[in-house]
Amino acid sequence: MTKLDQIRAAESRLLLDTYERNPILFVRGEGVHIVDESGTKYLDLLSGIGVNALGYGHPAITEAIARQSRALIHTSNLFYHEGQAELALRLTERTGLDRVFFANTGTEAWEGALKLARAHAGLLRSEGNEIGTRFLALEQSFHGRTFGSVSTTYKAKYREPFGPVVPGVDFVKFNDVADLRAKFSNEVCAILVEAIQGEGGIRPLTREFFAEARALATSTGALLIVDEIQAGMGRTGKWCAYQHYGILPDVTTLAKPIAGGIPLGAILCTEEAARAIHAGMHGTTFGGGPLACAVAIAVIDTIENEGLLAHATEVGDYFQAQLRSLAKRHEAIIDVRGKGLMLAAELDSADLAKLTVAEMLKRHILINCTSDTVLRFLPPYILEREHVDTAIAALDEIFTEHAVHASTQSAGGHNRG
Ligand SMILES: Cc1ncc(COP(=O)(O)O)c(C=O)c1O
Repeated sequence: MTKLDQIRAAESRLLLDTYERNPILFVRGEGVHIVDESGTKYLDLLSGIGVNALGYGHPAITEAIARQSRALIHTSNLFYHEGQAELALRLTERTGLDRVFFANTGTEAWEGALKLARAHAGLLRSEGNEIGTRFLALEQSFHGRTFGSVSTTYKAKYREPFGPVVPGVDFVKFNDVADLRAKFSNEVCAILVEAIQGEGGIRPLTREFFAEARALATSTGALLIVDEIQAGMGRTGKWCAYQHYGILPDVTTLAKPIAGGIPLGAILCTEEAARAIHAGMHGTTFGGGPLACAVAIAVIDTIENEGLLAHATEVGDYFQAQLRSLAKRHEAIIDVRGKGLMLAAELDSADLAKLTVAEMLKRHILINCTSDTVLRFLPPYILEREHVDTAIAALDEIFTEHAVHASTQSAGGHNRG
């Protein structure tokens, strides 16, 4: 029995059956590559689902972990440490928002943002305004797995087994301005969007829809909350994807790459929204601990010192152009979209998308498929053109083989007929 077989057998007895893992045992990583127990290197175009922004083993991260772990790992939020204000300053300066709450994960940041919206609406009511408690979320949205998050997540499979979920959520058709207008009223305390939907298939909001959401929220005092957990922290070439639109939300949420793989999430908001929160209303034991903050500071400084926002834009544009030229050669690719290093190639069949992910894995390249038919690329920001070329050559080969296979099958079918 191999070590992997032993681990698989033990996990199947001991863990809740939540994940369909690929049968690979990873043991370490270097740069854009992750290495399995036999020493095989995989080109990682998924980076732990958009987490390992600086790749693997970046000295800025390993040194920050070593330094901070020797000094202080945890204090609780009953006391001060050096990291939170320093990190909050970096985040507020880069996002245009005023105040920060540190959580541990994406879903926890999103929960906090929903609570903030309800509390803010309560404050407005106490000041004599008419505003309700409902949320408007978008079709195909994904905001996480805890109760508030699944309640505002579109796909029924994430909500229904756990019902009743949090009430008061309506879903607006994606990028449908008329539907947004029809569903918005002063019953709504917040409009919830991802500037570029991640799990929903790398789908950017239109400028018109985003601007209308901003205008409607402003008209009643409702909050515009933008989930930047997947798109934020530089992945699209700007710190937040909403910055491509020139729109400032009232609240945003960050997580995934923020601390280079150490769990950390953040809610950022305006002074106006922050009026709703007072000591004791919200909190967490671990959120914003010294270790996570020190690493997040190192991640932000490295992104800036190494020019990785510009690099993500440049290599991302190259990647997208290569995908577009691949789409010209292969009819199976029906759309290419995204921004910076948050990219997708949509295929004409879910079976082909599944097959492509498996074939890429055989060629030691990690990608995944979201929303059934969408190949998703969320590589580390340190990706170079040569890595893009490797991935494109592999995709070209897979689609060519598939087309040959499909045409011999249909020729065979004709013969039989
Ligand atoms: C846009 C978005 N929001 C929230 C989440 C949930 O984050 P986490 O898995 O850290 O709870 C995700 C995770 O994929 C996400 O992509």
